Amino acid sequence: MLLDLVVSVLAAGAWIASALVRNRLLVSFAIAATAARAVTVALLAGSGWWFVQDKVTLTLPLLLAFAVVAMVRRTPTAYLAAGYAALAGPVFTLLHGYPATWTSGLITVALVGGGATLTARVRGATRLRAAAVASATVLMVGVVLSFVAASSTVDPLGTVSLSSLRGPDSPVPGGTVRRFDLTARQATVTLASGATVRAWTFNGQVPGPPLTAAVGDLVEVTLHNADIAGGADGRSASSRGGVTLHWHGYDVPVAEDGVPGLTQDAVAPGESFVYRFRADRAGTYWYHTHEVSNEGVRMGLYGSLVVTGSAPSPAGVDLTLPLHTFNGSTVVGASDVVECRSVVPGTTVRLRLINTDNTPRVVGVVGSPVRVAAVDGTDLNEPDPVEEAGLRIAAGGRYDVTFTMPDRPVALRIAHSSSGLSFLPPGASVAPSADVGSWPVLDLLHYGHPAATPFGAGSRFDRSFTLVLDRGLAGTSYAYTVNGDAFPDVPTEVVRQGDLVRFTIVNRSQDIHPWHLHGHRVLVLSRDGSAPTGSPLWLDTFDVRPGEVWQVAFRADNPGIWMNHCHNLAHADQGMVLHLAYEGVRSDFHGAHGG
Ligand code: C2O
Ligand code: CU
Repeated sequence: MLLDLVVSVLAAGAWIASALVRNRLLVSFAIAATAARAVTVALLAGSGWWFVQDKVTLTLPLLLAFAVVAMVRRTPTAYLAAGYAALAGPVFTLLHGYPATWTSGLITVALVGGGATLTARVRGATRLRAAAVASATVLMVGVVLSFVAASSTVDPLGTVSLSSLRGPDSPVPGGTVRRFDLTARQATVTLASGATVRAWTFNGQVPGPPLTAAVGDLVEVTLHNADIAGGADGRSASSRGGVTLHWHGYDVPVAEDGVPGLTQDAVAPGESFVYRFRADRAGTYWYHTHEVSNEGVRMGLYGSLVVTGSAPSPAGVDLTLPLHTFNGSTVVGASDVVECRSVVPGTTVRLRLINTDNTPRVVGVVGSPVRVAAVDGTDLNEPDPVEEAGLRIAAGGRYDVTFTMPDRPVALRIAHSSSGLSFLPPGASVAPSADVGSWPVLDLLHYGHPAATPFGAGSRFDRSFTLVLDRGLAGTSYAYTVNGDAFPDVPTEVVRQGDLVRFTIVNRSQDIHPWHLHGHRVLVLSRDGSAPTGSPLWLDTFDVRPGEVWQVAFRADNPGIWMNHCHNLAHADQGMVLHLAYEGVRSDFHGAHGG
């Protein structure tokens, strides 16, 4: 790639220099660099480089065409034009990226052609009308095409209305109804360290009240909004400010999913909304607002949702600990300092860690081996104890970490943070410490033991989608993009109920993208081509790191229209969002909203 970039720049420089100084050697060098560019592109294509498409279909042919003209005509103008064409390669790759489309292709051709024409004009050439008209026409076609490009988010003709897909209103026989009231309001919260934060809260606290239920229960949450009007970003009519509740990782019926403009309207100050769903799977989840969530979650509109199995859980310490950054310091659970707890040796301790930030967090347990018992709510198969392992939790992800209290102190520590939690046996007062950020990170793809899964890499998939995550020009903004487009221009992925669906997610950018599909958990098939060797991994949020290629699969068994987005909510806000829609379902709301 680097070589390709270098020869492009050399070719551009040599062609332009040839126009300025008369030197046969320079021209030969420009020709050689152009030929070298053809070789580097061929090498990239031959070695399976994912992003060679724009070079093969657009920028290399453009360069070769102008180079041939330059070699035939041997005029300074032709040399300059070849230079522009050579420059178009790296500029296109850096600014636009993969994939080259008709729109971006035509605009590039028009700019190079227009540049050449203009250069000729400046250098005194005449009879350029045809060239000018051609460039302008190509440019216009490209621009017009960009406006007619896919801008659909939902199927307006579906016969099933999304709002009919609500949760049930009774528990399963034997279950109970768990009622909660959450009132969103602004408050000044005093943390354990004495620091105060201006926060957006549920019931005046951060995190919001922990919600718990047992499998079989009906969860009924009434959301009120006292005074959260913020969030209205003024960019779309549907963004009217307010709050919603999204049950992150919990596969509720779509009308309960809390996406403003898609599954409901945001709840404005003075309004309320009732969410109902059955607790049908045990595990650690969380809830958060989805109205301009980048701001709302950061300000404090989040809390935990823990569902326990129907069997009584073994006695022990069971702590739910969302990790959240306020004003640069980490709040673990509800505390921004190291809290101490006294625990009797032999007690089972379970820490339910939830990363509510936009970037991954590394945590570690000092003083005891631990098992990662569950990730994103799903138990891992036969997790082995690990010691001094950095546990890297994706933004939005959850790790359930367990250990048996030894007769010495144990500590939960968080990289780049002075917050944490210490567990002290009776009589002890000092907890161990360590720089857990320097520990080797546990790779979940090689942790635990294999087990049967309902489908796998060898299955026949009814649908396969590829999502290339990048950053670049989309329309008029420099956005976080999916396949070169930003929300709402990323085409909706359409599936049928019952389909087995495969996603290939490729990160072409320099940022980590924690990918999150609403309404479904996905099974990891591979990362960079290698399958997991440990426990099956069912995730709802997974980090696709720069350069990585992930393949995941899921069964389309929850009809609706679902958000599919990056859970770095700042990236989502800048375009990295699309929808997954079931055939036949239509939204009753009219906002093309990314939440
Ligand atoms: Cu926790 Cu759409 O996200
Ligand atoms: Cu991202």
